[in-house]
Amino acid sequence: MLTTVAFSLLLSALASVLSAAEVFRFSSYYGNHMVLQKAPAKAVLWGFGQTGAKVVVTLSGPYKVSAHSTTVINGIWRTTLKPEEAGGPYKLTASQSITNSSITLTDVLFGDIWLCSGQSNMAFTLGQVINATEELALASKFPDVRIFQAALEQSDEELIDLARVEVPWSQPTAELLGGKKFSHFSAVCWLFGRHLYKTLKYPIGLVHSSWGGTPVEAWSSPRALHKCGLKNSYLLVQSNFLEGASVQWNSSVLWNAMIHPLLNMTITGAIWYQGEANANYNRDKYNCSFPIMIDDWRMAFHEASDNQTPLDFPFGFVQLSTYRKNDTQDGFREIRWHQTADYGYAPNKRMKNTFMAVAIDVPDDRSPWGSIHPEDKQDVAYRLVLGARAVAYGEKNVSFQGPFPTHAVLKRDFICIVFNQRINATTGEGFFEICCSEDKTCESDDKWLPVDIVKHGFKYVHVSTPKCPAADITAVRYLWTDWPCKFKACPIYSSDGLLPAPPFILAVTNQ
Ligand SMILES: *[C@@H]1O[C@H](CO)[C@@H](O)[C@H](O)[C@H]1NC(C)=O
Ligand SMILES: *[C@@H]1O[C@H](CO)[C@@H](O)[C@H](O)[C@H]1NC(C)=O
Ligand SMILES: *[C@@H]1O[C@H](CO)[C@@H](O)[C@H](O)[C@H]1NC(C)=O
Ligand SMILES: *[C@@H]1O[C@H](CO)[C@@H](O)[C@H](O)[C@H]1NC(C)=O
Ligand SMILES: *[C@@H]1O[C@H](CO)[C@@H](O)[C@H](O)[C@H]1NC(C)=O
Ligand SMILES: *[C@@H]1O[C@H](CO)[C@@H](O)[C@H](O)[C@H]1NC(C)=O
Ligand SMILES: *[C@@H]1O[C@H](CO)[C@@H](O)[C@H](O)[C@H]1NC(C)=O
Ligand SMILES: *[C@@H]1O[C@H](CO)[C@@H](O)[C@H](O)[C@H]1NC(C)=O
Repeated sequence: MLTTVAFSLLLSALASVLSAAEVFRFSSYYGNHMVLQKAPAKAVLWGFGQTGAKVVVTLSGPYKVSAHSTTVINGIWRTTLKPEEAGGPYKLTASQSITNSSITLTDVLFGDIWLCSGQSNMAFTLGQVINATEELALASKFPDVRIFQAALEQSDEELIDLARVEVPWSQPTAELLGGKKFSHFSAVCWLFGRHLYKTLKYPIGLVHSSWGGTPVEAWSSPRALHKCGLKNSYLLVQSNFLEGASVQWNSSVLWNAMIHPLLNMTITGAIWYQGEANANYNRDKYNCSFPIMIDDWRMAFHEASDNQTPLDFPFGFVQLSTYRKNDTQDGFREIRWHQTADYGYAPNKRMKNTFMAVAIDVPDDRSPWGSIHPEDKQDVAYRLVLGARAVAYGEKNVSFQGPFPTHAVLKRDFICIVFNQRINATTGEGFFEICCSEDKTCESDDKWLPVDIVKHGFKYVHVSTPKCPAADITAVRYLWTDWPCKFKACPIYSSDGLLPAPPFILAVTNQ
């Protein structure tokens, strides 16, 4: 007698057999108009299919045809193409035996893939920037800069594929780039890709995966958090985006849903704009959590791509801009410093093959999106591109770092701060402070006295030392507030006037 229970067991067994026979397809981030990583690396392709079936992937382009054969194991197939020079368009066909099904992707290019991630200043769209109309009008003039965007998803477990795609691989249009606030394509990512294309003159694939208001812990694997003594936890982050609002994030949920699925894709590098959400959350750990996240992403992308993505792939980031005037307590100055692992500049010994765009000199108190979201993303993207050209592409003549001090020496009644390059400076009050401390500790803000730039020269500035006994002068710091300068008006730039000296803190010596 076939009971109802037995019958329903039979049905559920049947259902699980059916779901095990995966529909033949590519994973979510391969499609028409895509860019695949060019030579010398090899692009990885993978997807789902019927276990045991053979899959043949055929690449046919302007000049040649190549075929790659593989087998579906546990519902997944994967192949690595031969290295292909930049260019296209190619046609890519994948065919599966048994079911005799086949999929063809068209208008496929080879070029460099850059991943763009972070929080709202990365999510900020091209429609929100200053001069948006002009920028949007240029979009369609760059058909070889292709865009792809992951949808906002969180997960408690590492996903093997994206749960949803917001923008499938596309040629750029004003509509895609300028759409809904904070939820269409990233302005920083796009402008970075567009400028890079002008230099490289071959296709660029931009993969955008970011989410406003998110702390670094959400983008980090449990393995990475553990290395910084951070517990896998439920986070409560004060959102800077909606005044007073708090948002909860579980750690690793965006790593799980928006980064982990992408690991198999061969990439050139990544850019990152985040840190605001950590200004009041695990701030003192950011000098560990951020560099460790970079290391961890690098290791994971390298392994999952069968070593095609370099273990030390270039990683660029934007140093925090500004948020509140007159505020020393909002954590921005500490996060800026921690973004560089407390070196003040990038790359450095701890953060190799990184580059940093300084943004402290582009404050914006009139941004319709709130002062935490400056509308000038062009300068930020341009500075990132200088870093990419120098660090990722090895261009020798590209200067990408503002002046940084080598030492500060106490002279009779001033401190001489010497820089590592020629500077373009102005005199001014309040940009520098000195630590005046009998016991030589400088943790507390009340040990710091504002001082003036009294003189500047080829590679140095002199600052005054009022009201402090020489023996107590311990350290000097520069731009150590949230909002120190007016727009493009910090006192120290590179000699061409383009790159600001980043904030720093430095011991004062007697020699
Ligand atoms: C597989 O598909 C091709 C093209 O549609 C067709 O020519 C061929 O007969 C099919 N083979 C089987 C076994 O269904
Ligand atoms: C976050 O963690 C809590 C507690 O572990 C859990 O109940 C919740 O489902 C998680 N949410 C997400 C989006 O992962
Ligand atoms: C990467 O490819 C492998 C097959 O080689 C597959 O098992 C895995 O699910 C894919 N995705 C991720 C995120 O590892
Ligand atoms: C990170 O910053 C904290 C707080 O400022 C400091 O105590 C710690 O020594 C720093 N750690 C590293 C590795 O630089
Ligand atoms: C910030 O400081 C300036 C100059 O000291 C002052 O005029 C202004 O009122 C202050 N603003 C706030 C919000 O405290
Ligand atoms: C915006 O356009 C104006 C006028 O062309 C130009 O002077 C300014 O530099 C542009 N701003 C940015 C950030 O591109
Ligand atoms: C770098 O710049 C110098 C001086 O401007 C020039 O002489 C040299 O040819 C340049 N080198 C390269 C590789 O472009
Ligand atoms: C300093 O930079 C400004 C632009 O900010 C430029 O006009 C000026 O020529 C520069 N001065 C020197 C000495 O290079």
